[in-house]
Amino acid sequence: MKNISLAIDGPASSGKSTVAKLLAKEFQFIYTDTGAMYRSLTYLAITHNVQLTDEAGLVDLIKTYPISFKQTENGQLVFVDSKEVTEAIRQPEVTNAVSEVAAHAQVRKEMVARQQKIAENGGVVMDGRDIGTAVLPKAEVKIFLVASVAERAERRYKENIEKGISTDFETLQKEIQHRDHIDSTRKASPLVQAEDAVRIDTTGLSIEQVVEAIRQVIKDKGYL
Ligand code: DC
Repeated sequence: MKNISLAIDGPASSGKSTVAKLLAKEFQFIYTDTGAMYRSLTYLAITHNVQLTDEAGLVDLIKTYPISFKQTENGQLVFVDSKEVTEAIRQPEVTNAVSEVAAHAQVRKEMVARQQKIAENGGVVMDGRDIGTAVLPKAEVKIFLVASVAERAERRYKENIEKGISTDFETLQKEIQHRDHIDSTRKASPLVQAEDAVRIDTTGLSIEQVVEAIRQVIKDKGYL
């Protein structure tokens, strides 16, 4: 397997991170969950009482508290400064505020620069909303995952139950629609499919079927 960059974009709960992690493990690539970076910043804003509308304040937080990842046997851990925030950044308080944080152009500029640095030598699987369009426009393989709102809410519902977070299904569906709307209509790098991305609808597909479909795209392009 060549040291290519694999960009996986798509809306909330489309299954990006699950398949991205599996593919990174299989190819021994670096996995980067860019959503976790925006979530970590949102967590910082909440804990440091920085308003979600305060773009300069948010940029200061990015510059002051480095966000990092650590791969372990039990999955990827996320740190801000030296504090582990893996679970904290998945709490509903962060989830419901993150789209607003991620909509600021200067915040995105800082995050994109950091993501490009991580990917500078290739050998990376990066998932997010703007990887194929803004972060790695030259990525050798670009995938755009979609799934129905109902199926995505169902997945998030099950994930939350496993994590002991109790949520109402209808509310989850509304929150997903709301986040889709903010992510797709913001001015700075909205969620759109890159022209050269391959679109895969994961509704009704198992994780292994999605992984296989992506492997096939990589093979078709001659990288596997
Ligand atoms: O994938 P996720 O749910 O963890 O993403 C959290 C939020 O971050 C989501 O509302 C969109 C935003 N995001 C983004 O704007 N750009 C990225 N590359 C990744 C995530």
